[in-house]
Amino acid sequence: MDDAAQDLTNRTDMSAYWMPFTANRQFKASPRMLVSASGMYYRSDDGREILDGTAGLWCVNAGHARPEIAAAVQHQLMSLDYAPSFQMGHPIAFDFAARLARIAPPGLDRIFYVNSGSEAADTALKMAIAYHRARGEGQRVRLVGRERGYHGVGFGGISVGGLVNNRRVYPLLTSDHLRHTQDPRNAFARGLPPHGAERADDLEQLVALHGAETIAAVMVEPVAGAGGVLPPPQGYLERLRTICDRHGILLIFDEVITGFGRLGTPFAAQALGVTPDLMTTAKGITNATVPMGAVFASRKVHDTVVGGGADGAVEFFHGYTYSGHPVACAAGLATLDIYEREGLFANAAAMAPRWEEALHSLKGAPNVVDIRNIGLMGAIELSPRAGAPGARGYQALVKAFEAGLTVRVAGDIICLSPPLIINAVQIGRVAEILNDVLKSLD
Ligand SMILES: Cc1ncc(COP(=O)(O)O)c(C=O)c1O
Repeated sequence: MDDAAQDLTNRTDMSAYWMPFTANRQFKASPRMLVSASGMYYRSDDGREILDGTAGLWCVNAGHARPEIAAAVQHQLMSLDYAPSFQMGHPIAFDFAARLARIAPPGLDRIFYVNSGSEAADTALKMAIAYHRARGEGQRVRLVGRERGYHGVGFGGISVGGLVNNRRVYPLLTSDHLRHTQDPRNAFARGLPPHGAERADDLEQLVALHGAETIAAVMVEPVAGAGGVLPPPQGYLERLRTICDRHGILLIFDEVITGFGRLGTPFAAQALGVTPDLMTTAKGITNATVPMGAVFASRKVHDTVVGGGADGAVEFFHGYTYSGHPVACAAGLATLDIYEREGLFANAAAMAPRWEEALHSLKGAPNVVDIRNIGLMGAIELSPRAGAPGARGYQALVKAFEAGLTVRVAGDIICLSPPLIINAVQIGRVAEILNDVLKSLD
């Protein structure tokens, strides 16, 4: 253990905290501690400035420590700190939903609040099943996801999710999967890759296998994130939309990462020109300051579920104590104000070509087998070390942190998604650090 880590362990008993998605023993032996943040930077406990290459966990889209959000949260805490949302309401929840509806993809303007991306996924899947039930098709309960998809860690999300470690030891809901969209012919493609639209036809095969009348919904991330940043092949999402329509299957986009400007438009649905029936969001909805998520439902789904049943009966037996939490709504409204006032979605669009150039300048660095980008997302895929998949990726994460940059890794894929406030100089710095890191890996 180095001196800084020793200091830290002397100062803090780290044993009580069971950390999520972390190699706990390894981390506690050699911690990476972030103690403050502002704008594009974290500060580590040893006083170093660390460039945030990942917007936290793909979520701090407006950059860190925004005073406007802090002020809105404080004000809300002192005026209405909490109010129930079951059979009662509070104005800010309605105000925020109306604001969200204004930036929604066409027709997806019915907003259901949750507290995380995982809850959004499970909520959307339940909505899909409830929708079919309300239409008299209660047998449509099969859920389709995609290999390498990530939809959080609830039982619904892991059932449609396609990351083996998240699902292999748990009992799952009735689900099936499309193939993932990574295609070797697309290596080093920029933006939407040219090959692979035909993989959407996997849904036709599942229809042939199970019968369309058993399938409620297909859930995909428009751009797979945690599975390694896989932009959809050209024409793929359009094809999926067409097949869903042909068979009465609902299309759900998980926009937990892509929502709130990552591709230069409010949602990926707008950037990519395909509108789903349901859309899950979280993360950037409050700039990650207060946990929140929202499912955006189409009028068709909403009106079918809410329009049915007896007068006075609850139409959808679902919700959370903190659904529409007033403090989260206040943070969300302040966040939307910042996005709008500072034109951050437009900045993401303006910076995207520089981002693309910077990432692709790393082609040719040792072990790099693919580079992918879209909007302000990107991935650098490394060849795995013989017999030790993931080891090189983890070393990249550690070395990048030491060099002053946060990255995420999915196995041996370095994933990047900076705050949307990033400028050209900072993009250059990300590439410089990565270049040095890549040269230093075993
Ligand atoms: C696409 C996607 N969906 C869902 C989730 C889960 O969100 P949360 O961690 O807030 O539950 C994530 C988290 O990274 C995500 O990337």
